Amino acid sequence: MLSNKISLTGVKPTGTPHFGNLLGAFYPVVRMSDEAKKTYVFIADLHALNAVKDREFIHKNTYEIAATYLALGINLEKAILFRQSDIPEVYQLATLLMNVTPKGLMNRAHAYKASVDKNLAKGEDADAGINMGLYTYPILMAADILLYNSDVVPVGQDQKQHVEFARDIAGSFNYIYGKDLLTSPEPIIPEDAATVPGLDGRKMSKSYNNYIPIFAPEKELRKLIMKIITDSKLPEEPKDPEESTIFHLYRAFANEAQTEELRQRFIKGGLGYGEAKQILFEAINEKIAPAREKYYDLMAHTEQIDAILADGAAKAREEAKKTLARVLKAMLG
Ligand code: ADP
Ligand code: TRP
Repeated sequence: MLSNKISLTGVKPTGTPHFGNLLGAFYPVVRMSDEAKKTYVFIADLHALNAVKDREFIHKNTYEIAATYLALGINLEKAILFRQSDIPEVYQLATLLMNVTPKGLMNRAHAYKASVDKNLAKGEDADAGINMGLYTYPILMAADILLYNSDVVPVGQDQKQHVEFARDIAGSFNYIYGKDLLTSPEPIIPEDAATVPGLDGRKMSKSYNNYIPIFAPEKELRKLIMKIITDSKLPEEPKDPEESTIFHLYRAFANEAQTEELRQRFIKGGLGYGEAKQILFEAINEKIAPAREKYYDLMAHTEQIDAILADGAAKAREEAKKTLARVLKAMLG
């Protein structure tokens, strides 16, 4: 039962939100904000710092993410939306948690290991170019999670290990300083979250530059959809829907009946890719238009976003202060 749980999730401000993020992260979190007792949603600007040194970029992305949640209708009665860096207690807790975190745990972190492997493959020193922000990333993330007594953490598969680390760190802290001082979180991985394909058919991702921004203006949205890569089958030829990026994207937005109808048209033949793209564009555009209007309205009035984030930070800090005080008392008396 989610209705008596505290949920928490963070999004890094490292790129304009795209349709993969929408289906894999934003929609599930907005839904969760209705279902859970309380939901903490924050923009993880501190986590962006190990890779991004451009503060304007972080600033703009922070607004984009906040405006996306607000435009999609996150339930502010039960959700607390804030900026990670507005909560000084998170830096403090991270420093304290370092003392109960085995170094070996960090050595096993996927992101760190991937960077080391890349270095070794290039014949460089294992730790070349790796900063301590990247190395200790999971400790800061554990601090995020443990500071607000989170029960559940909805994340993509790629973040599961980090939530498990937060459990390990909480376990180690509680073992030393006292049972139940920190709440052990559960990761929630949306099982049915299909991977959304990008324009080139690979996973939609900012790293592949194959993405469609959620709130691309209508004209740009159409242009991007027309760029989806297809094979060279003629309109009259039957097509395998399962192999089509157009179909996979459509399925993510349309209801079952509509999806079935398009599937049949693919199989039967007589549907050209141009027309299929037009159908896809209309489906996405119709679904996204109301939120898009709200989004641009908010982006034109960032002072409204600032006010909501300040309110969220004030609420989040109340809880953060309590946890930090409890931890400090346990550690130092
Ligand atoms: P990117 O691959 O663009 O860098 P992130 O890794 O920042 O995206 O994604 C943040 C979250 O958005 C992920 O944890 C995942 O839940 C979701 N997500 C990203 N891309 C996709 C996709 N193509 N399909 C489904 N979910 C996705
Ligand atoms: N590391 C997450 C990501 O890259 C973002 C994040 C930071 C987060 N702190 C968190 C997610 C706490 C869930 C809970 O996507």
